[in-house]
Amino acid sequence: MRIILTGSPGTGKSRIAIALSEKLGFALIDIKRIACTRKLVGKSREVDLGKLAAALRPLARKKDFIAEGHLACEIRLPADFIFVLRTSPATLRRRLAKRHYGKKKLEENLMAEMLDYCVWRTEAVYGRKPLELDTSKRSVSGCVSELVKAIKQKKKRLDTVDYSPDLKRHLKVR
Ligand SMILES: Nc1ncnc2c1ncn2[C@@H]1O[C@H](COP(=O)(O)OP(=O)(O)OP(=O)(O)O)[C@@H](O)[C@H]1O
Ligand SMILES: [Mg+2]
Repeated sequence: MRIILTGSPGTGKSRIAIALSEKLGFALIDIKRIACTRKLVGKSREVDLGKLAAALRPLARKKDFIAEGHLACEIRLPADFIFVLRTSPATLRRRLAKRHYGKKKLEENLMAEMLDYCVWRTEAVYGRKPLELDTSKRSVSGCVSELVKAIKQKKKRLDTVDYSPDLKRHLKVR
């Protein structure tokens, strides 16, 4: 089983992927760590997606894995299930503030979440709709249970989120 967890930074991919891999016994592929350890950063200081795709090519021969990272929505990886983790803007703001992100980086990340960037990008790159999981109101173990249930039942849909009211409010106060 090949499982992809993607989503905006701070939505809980790493925490949830670790717990899910322990539960299912599948290898865990941390995409951010691969990009960092192999120094796949281009001239613009952004990760070079071509080099990252090449580094992830061996996944094609792997039967069972959980690959997690926000860049998973930019590269078409072999996948049976693609989940996009979602987090309400208010909760995400709190989580990212704890990381001491600068104002610009914080706002950019919140905007990406409110615009459903990872969902649209996944759909464009993989050619199918991902399943969305809202991590705002669930514990890590609650999220893992939902993922396991979705996989076992081969669900086509999970949560529906709509952050457009948050986006409207956000744009008004800026
Ligand atoms: N229900 C939840 N599910 C996942 N994470 C949660 C949950 N509640 C709180 N968190 C917290 O959210 C924070 C962000 O989690 P994590 O580092 O796993 O995010 P990430 O999506 O991997 O971010 P990045 O893309 O930057 O690596 C952590 O401090 C984690 O403990
Ligand atoms: Mg992470």
